[in-house]
Amino acid sequence: MITIRGLFKRYPGRDITRNAVNGISFKVPDGQLFTLLGPSGCGKTTTLRMIAGLERPDAGEITIGDKHVYDAKQHIAVPANKRPIGMVFQSYAVWPHMTVFENVSFPLTVGKNKPAKDVVREKTERALELVGLTEYASRPATALSGGQQQRVALARALVREPEILLLDEPLSNLDAQLRERMREEIREVQQKLGITAVYVTHDQNEALAISDCIMLMEHGQIVELGEPQQIYRSPRSAFTATFVGVANELTGTVERTAGATNIMTSHGSVSGVVRDDLIHGQSVQLFLRPEDFVLHRDRPAKDVWTGTVSFCIYQGDCWDYHVESAGTLLRVRVHKEKAGLKRGDVVFLEPDPNAAVVMLAP
Ligand SMILES: Nc1ncnc2c1ncn2[C@@H]1O[C@H](COP(=O)(O)OP(=O)(O)OP(=O)(O)O)[C@@H](O)[C@H]1O
Ligand SMILES: [Mg+2]
Repeated sequence: MITIRGLFKRYPGRDITRNAVNGISFKVPDGQLFTLLGPSGCGKTTTLRMIAGLERPDAGEITIGDKHVYDAKQHIAVPANKRPIGMVFQSYAVWPHMTVFENVSFPLTVGKNKPAKDVVREKTERALELVGLTEYASRPATALSGGQQQRVALARALVREPEILLLDEPLSNLDAQLRERMREEIREVQQKLGITAVYVTHDQNEALAISDCIMLMEHGQIVELGEPQQIYRSPRSAFTATFVGVANELTGTVERTAGATNIMTSHGSVSGVVRDDLIHGQSVQLFLRPEDFVLHRDRPAKDVWTGTVSFCIYQGDCWDYHVESAGTLLRVRVHKEKAGLKRGDVVFLEPDPNAAVVMLAP
């Protein structure tokens, strides 16, 4: 478990009203892959580097397991090399003048308490095997692809068998396809070892795909913390709803009748929203994901929204449509559709009241 309490960081010379990290507290449970997600400059790297001991906080506490590694009040600041962590950076930072084996074994060969040669060999071989690089051991580290170099970096971070693995945008130098494969590999290794990992990314798809828990940050603060499904399906703030995944953001008014709660929008209503706390007449924000609509080509005998297709994107496993409706553009995703629609086609949309996220208007 990593426990962070009241952590602050302001870089020297920066505006005193703008802390890079502004009083955050959270816990990372053992064995989890915990992701720090958020837009550029929100404080992800700073937070990670403070956990690593590479950046000194201005205030707060950091505990790894039962060990205080930083405590401003008690003047405790354990240096980075004494913390039980391994770290992978965005740039692979493999050493070009060394072989793959030498790169991975390096952390075992520095500092005090160096293990015996055969132990170094054994641990290095185990780390190489873990990332699937056994057969590359004697290659110069530069004679590898980007993905392989990142695996060297991962093996090197794991070779000392740390309690905590920290990764800062480890995949951002790789092309899209490789990124997807590598994120699965990282997740697999993390689960195989059962190691606690803190993973920094600004890529929401990556965060959704591999995390046990996502902590969304903005301006040095925590916006929301939860499991990927909760962050995606039940966001608690407009920032979360729009930053993670695509959301149609609408405004509406609550209409309560005897049996049902409906939200009236300029497109039509969302009928049967299950929310007891809404009051008749309240102004609300409404978020609907592209997949939260049933799309009809013929007008069904129920209350639907009418729109015109303005743009079609074929994704292989689905179609994405832009639909003009009541003067705004809605994004609609349809799976398993036999014949694609065309620009100009009139369609009828049925929003799913169970999927709609409703928030009181600010
Ligand atoms: N060494 C530094 N000196 C001064 N300001 C810094 C320094 N490092 C970061 N900052 C500032 O602190 C804030 C947080 O930076 P940080 O690198 O933690 O963001 P990030 O979330 O990792 O962003 P990105 O996604 O772009 O990597 C930013 O406003 C940044 O400009
Ligand atoms: Mg960063």
